[in-house]
Amino acid sequence: MKQIIIDCDPGIDDALALLLAAGSPSLRILAVTTVAGNRPVATTAVNGRKIMDLAGRREVPVYAGAARPLGYAEARCNLVHGEDGLGGVDVGDAALVQEGHAANRLIELLLSHPPHSIELVATAPLTNLALAESLSPGILRRARRLLVMGGALRFPGNITPAAEFNFYADPVAAEMVLAAGANTVLFPLDVTSSAIMTPAWIESFNQLGSVCGRAAAGMLQAYAELDPLLHDACPVAYLLDETLFTGEPCHLEVDWRPGVTAGHTLAWFGEQIDDAHAANALAMTAVRNDALLELVRSAIGSLP
Ligand code: BDR
Ligand code: CA
Repeated sequence: MKQIIIDCDPGIDDALALLLAAGSPSLRILAVTTVAGNRPVATTAVNGRKIMDLAGRREVPVYAGAARPLGYAEARCNLVHGEDGLGGVDVGDAALVQEGHAANRLIELLLSHPPHSIELVATAPLTNLALAESLSPGILRRARRLLVMGGALRFPGNITPAAEFNFYADPVAAEMVLAAGANTVLFPLDVTSSAIMTPAWIESFNQLGSVCGRAAAGMLQAYAELDPLLHDACPVAYLLDETLFTGEPCHLEVDWRPGVTAGHTLAWFGEQIDDAHAANALAMTAVRNDALLELVRSAIGSLP
C-alpha cells in the first residue's frame, strides 16, 4: 500500500484526483492539504473536505494552508471551475476542516514517517510545499517522490503563452520546490494536454447510479466546456499504473521574476543536461488516454 498526501486546490480536476485516490484501495491517504489556487484557500479547504466526505472518507484529515502566493499580495485565482470551485454542483455539506496550517502538517507527517515512505502529490500552486521547505530545509527530500502537476515545457502555457496556471500562480514556490533536490516527477501541460475527457466518458459517470458518479458527471460537464483536460488526475493515476505514462529526465528551472515570462518553465533534455544543469526531475510527456480514462472511471465506480 502506498501512503500519500495530496496538496490541492479543488477545483474540479483536483476533485477528480481526490475521488480517484479515495476509490483506489492500494493508496492510503494520510491527509489532504489545500492552498489558494483555483479559488481562495477557505473555499479549496471546504471543497477538499466535502469531496472526501462525499467519498465516505471522513477519517482523512483536511488542512487549509497558504492564502497567498510567495511575494504577491493577493491570490491569483481563476473561474474555470466556477465561483464555488466545483462547477456549482451540490456535493453536500462539509464537516470541519482540521485545525493547523497545511505547511506545518506536511512537515509533521514527513518527519513522523520513515524517510522516503510518503508519496507527496501536488496539484496546485506549490506555496504550501515551498513554505514547508523554508521552515524545515530538506523536508521535501524525505518524500519518496514529489508528483507535481504544473508547468509547460515544449508546450505553450494556458494562462500566458509562457506559463501554466499552477506555476504562474506562484512562480517563486515552483522554483523553490524544483530546486529542493527531491525526487520529482512532473506532469506538465505537455502530457495533460493528451488527458482528454470525452462526452461519452463524462456521461458514463451518470450511469454508475451512485452519489459520487452523479457528482462527478455534474462537475465534469461544467468543467469540460472550458477545459476538457484531466490535469490533476494524472499524478494519482501514475501512482496506480506507471505504464500509462512516458517520461524523460530533465533539468527544470522556473522563471520566478515578475514580468511577462513569470512562471515559465525552462527544460534541458537529453544532451543539454550537463554538470551545470543536472537532471532534477522526470517529466512526463505522453499518456495512454483510453487506459487513463478507464482507470479513473473504474476507481470512481467503486465509491458510494
Ligand atoms: C492546473 O490549473 C488548475 O486550474 C487545474 O486544477 C490544474 O491543477 C492546470 O493548469
Ligand atoms: Ca489543481
